[in-house]
Amino acid sequence: MWLAVLAAVLWAAMTWPWTRRRSSPSTMIWMSQPPWMRAAAGANVYDQESGRVLPTIYERTTALGQQHGAVNLGQGFPDQEGPAWLRQLAAEAVGTDAGPSNQYPPGMGFPWFREAVADHQQRWYGVALDPQTQVMHTTGATEAITASILALAEPGSEILTFEPFYDSYGAVAALAGAELRTVPLRAPGFRPDTAALEAAVTARTSMILVNTPHNPTGTVFTEAELETIVDIARRHDLVVMADEVYEHLVLPGADSSHRTILSIRGAEDVAVAVGSVGKSFAVTGWKVGWLTGSADLVNRVRGSSSS
Ligand SMILES: Cc1ncc(COP(=O)(O)O)c(C=O)c1O
Repeated sequence: MWLAVLAAVLWAAMTWPWTRRRSSPSTMIWMSQPPWMRAAAGANVYDQESGRVLPTIYERTTALGQQHGAVNLGQGFPDQEGPAWLRQLAAEAVGTDAGPSNQYPPGMGFPWFREAVADHQQRWYGVALDPQTQVMHTTGATEAITASILALAEPGSEILTFEPFYDSYGAVAALAGAELRTVPLRAPGFRPDTAALEAAVTARTSMILVNTPHNPTGTVFTEAELETIVDIARRHDLVVMADEVYEHLVLPGADSSHRTILSIRGAEDVAVAVGSVGKSFAVTGWKVGWLTGSADLVNRVRGSSSS
């Protein structure tokens, strides 16, 4: 009798869906590779034969564009330097002894920077954020994306995104030991198929990455599409990360106007949004970015960020 009970308990423990938080066999093989190799393979820049890391797709397309005098649609690379007034202000800020521009900022970023981001979100989208706890400064959007994935996607989990996607998603997912799975944005409309997205959710899914306005298709997700994505996240206990670096680069005639994910009903406690001055002000080399979200999610991402 006791033996039967013990066997039943063992069987239940082994078959219970712990898998939601457990590594799959492929992830365990994946995780046995060194982190740099995982990340490079995740970004499709690892050459197995030579063991070398190859230039990224962006480096390759930009070099080819320059070589042939072609229009560079491959990388979000501005045609001009940023506005002169902005560069002048930056030069004055680093040139003054009044500081504190040249020294370490606090971990979340300088208060004036966080207040400026909170003001921006209020003015453009009507979203009220506490600059103390709901805004974090990052080294470009890429650090915000990296820190979010490392903080919010467990090893062995799956991350869903629409394809094509910014190559760093694949690199960081691999670094985190997560699997990046994709749902295509299909021509000619390149609208997100939210039914296909939900069908791709499994017990291991931890995050949905949304890039809107989308690079490279220019698709701006509508409010209804974002509401559906947030609803999927809520029902399946997922976090949404919205990469909104192109928020001010919406093509004339786009189907809808951009709104931040945090303005979507129900997103407050399940979503984070990523922004950057690089694209909006044509200063991609500055690498000034930010993360916004609930105090709880921002706190978790801060835990995995470098500062
Ligand atoms: C969709 C997307 N997100 C983020 C970035 C990078 O932003 P940042 O330069 O602020 O790190 C890029 C750059 O091309 C991009 O295309």
